[in-house]
Amino acid sequence: MNASMQQKLEQLAAWRTKSAAGGGEQRVTQQRASGKGTARQRLASLLDPGSFQEIDSFVRQHTGNGVPDDPIGEGVVTGWGRIHGRPVFCFSQDFTIYGGSVGELHSRKICKIMDLAYRAGAPIVGINDSGGARIQEGVDALGAYGEIFARNARLSGVVPQISVILGPCAGGAVYSPALTDFTFVADRVSKMFITGPQVTKAATGEDVTFEELGGAETHASKSGVAHFRAPSEEECLAMVRDLLSYLPSNNLETPPVTEPSEPPGHPDELLDVVPTSPNKAYDVRQVLWRVLDGGRLLEVHQEFALNAVAGFGRMAGQVVGVIANQPRVLAGCLDIDASDKIARFVRFCDAFNIPLVTFVDVPGFLPGVAQEHRGIIRHGAKILYAYAEATVPKIAVILRKAYGGAYVAMSSRGIGADLALAWPTAEVAVMGPEGAAQILYRNGLAHAEDPQALLAERTREYRDRYANPYVACARGMVDDVIDPRETRPRIIHALAALANKREDRPPKKHGNIPL
Ligand code: HXC
Repeated sequence: MNASMQQKLEQLAAWRTKSAAGGGEQRVTQQRASGKGTARQRLASLLDPGSFQEIDSFVRQHTGNGVPDDPIGEGVVTGWGRIHGRPVFCFSQDFTIYGGSVGELHSRKICKIMDLAYRAGAPIVGINDSGGARIQEGVDALGAYGEIFARNARLSGVVPQISVILGPCAGGAVYSPALTDFTFVADRVSKMFITGPQVTKAATGEDVTFEELGGAETHASKSGVAHFRAPSEEECLAMVRDLLSYLPSNNLETPPVTEPSEPPGHPDELLDVVPTSPNKAYDVRQVLWRVLDGGRLLEVHQEFALNAVAGFGRMAGQVVGVIANQPRVLAGCLDIDASDKIARFVRFCDAFNIPLVTFVDVPGFLPGVAQEHRGIIRHGAKILYAYAEATVPKIAVILRKAYGGAYVAMSSRGIGADLALAWPTAEVAVMGPEGAAQILYRNGLAHAEDPQALLAERTREYRDRYANPYVACARGMVDDVIDPRETRPRIIHALAALANKREDRPPKKHGNIPL
């Protein structure tokens, strides 16, 4: 090697070392002391070992004469690597450099990697740890955010977009994660809010901590902003890897297929999970675990809207999106939050070719002034729209109650399920037997000697006559009544039969889902 090349390589090595040092030793030590990893450590944990390829590490502000003069560089590390062997594009904000704040060049780096992800048809994962818009750059910083948001919308439904919040994510900056498909948070590390505690207090008088206002638990359980919560950064990044194992790289692919595995336990156990008494609670996951490969369900929004369950599983190695009512909470009624949870999940699955398997046990939409005033009509409509719009294979299994509009919403045949199965315990009806009897026999009950006894009798009659799956079967709205033990093989057969399903929709710019 000649001396000149030697010198150039030394210069390159020196630049690289400098870049890798982030905002300098002191800031990196502070970052670690606050329990956080560095931007590059996080990428190393996220990606397959040694697979990260960084680009744009030399991006720097310059004074206009072409010579970069910022000694530190931009507070975001960008590039690509692999997760389970498949390409993933990523960025990781570096809080040690100007607090990870977003200015023009910072945004340009993120936009470049998003554009590459789009062209390559590969997921994009963004690790957020930032003080928000770089104050010194003024409106340029706001415009820079706009560029990112526009790309979030453009990439939506084309490649999976994942946000990991591992530090502050404040002000308008929260809207990039909010535009992505899934947001991950980690305990103690994530802080996500529009206005911090100080401004909140000044504006409303409410005295709250960062944690209460926008910590991991708040967003995972109250606001629904976060879809996944982990106890630590490491576990959070491992969860991202797990999620990606269920997803195709883009909307033109199907999800990866794995080796099938049987669920734990014996199929006979399904006979005892659902109580025959319609008012008894149970955990619907007891059913899901017994029909999914290995009993594994990766729940989305596990701590939010607990009256519904949504998540990814596999059946005979093929990925499915599972949705279920949860009778253990609010008797499984659909409320505003459950509507948002289900509708968004259904739309994600539909965008990325993931068949939908829905388990129904729903007494109705949740009654009450609060729900009506907050717009259960507007929100509940999202479920109907999402299922009706979805063109992926749709299979429904009615376990027990399927009443009224909530039955129609939950992947009924009417709104487009390809296959509707029912257990013998199913009751498909306009409403519950007691409510129906009270309305149908109002007059008789008013004049009865013993109204309670009459109501009980009329309720029993109604139940015998209508509260079973056979009336719906006779009308073709349920395709078959099955032995609960056959649930898994019947779904697997149907998924195979529907694997090449094609369903046309009229050409239009886009529909207008009620928001
Ligand atoms: C420039 C910033 C910055 C920012 C932090 N820094 N935020 N520099 N622009 N937005 C710098 C700090 O000056 C400091 O530099 C270093 O980063 C570390 O910040 P600290 O405050 O020391 O860290 P910490 O105590 O951990 O507090 C973190 C923080 C706080 C809570 C995020 O920095 C903060 O409140 N920052 C401002 C948040 C904010 O209001 N951002 C604008 C939001 S509006 P030195 O050199 O002193 O170490 C917004 C609009 C987006 O983002 C609009 C999109 C449409």
